Amino acid sequence: MKRLIFATNNLHKLEEVRAALAGRAEVVSLAEAGLEGEIPETADTLEGNARQKAGWVWDKICESETRNREAYDGVFADDTGLEVEALGGAPGVYSARYAGEHCSFDDNIDKLLVSLDGVENRRARFRTVICLMEDGEERLFEGAVEGRILTERYGQGGFGYDPVFMPDRFAVSFAEMPLEVKNRISHRGRAVEKLAEAI
Ligand code: IMP
Repeated sequence: MKRLIFATNNLHKLEEVRAALAGRAEVVSLAEAGLEGEIPETADTLEGNARQKAGWVWDKICESETRNREAYDGVFADDTGLEVEALGGAPGVYSARYAGEHCSFDDNIDKLLVSLDGVENRRARFRTVICLMEDGEERLFEGAVEGRILTERYGQGGFGYDPVFMPDRFAVSFAEMPLEVKNRISHRGRAVEKLAEAI
């Protein structure tokens, strides 16, 4: 079974991806790999950010004499954006900082609900790009889920925009679903499935 570092500081994502890859790949967190610090994320596309994040971690592993490069088969990173049709695809690649630098998930949801106040077209999609880097070679995997933005928050689970996103063919938000259900249909779940098939 491959041993891969997941380049994220988001513990929700780590839990989701570990559950999705259980029995198929060993997912090592940054802390377990002895890495810390803010991972740079300055590209203007999801693909660019995913490559940048995976590359940053891979370089750190290869540069260091104390971290055992041989212990890992590779690194992967994901980048996700919420693309809202009525907002011309915003917040997109800027989803984490939609309400400003260092804003909270709640600040972002508040801004989104205000931006869509009175707007009838609530169509939106989450899109994830995963970059897998093994021996400096990169591969990209994409997953998306279509749905709509609700007019208020529903549910306590998940993270980010989950309480206001309702995927098509469901009558509940992502935050109201058990993790296994979200993982089966979500943007990241679909991208992770492609990653799992490739490794
Ligand atoms: P990131 O840059 O991939 O961490 O994602 C950007 C932002 O998108 C995050 O800060 C979250 O607000 C949001 N996001 C990413 N994945 C999800 C998800 O699965 N559900 C809800 N929001 C998410």
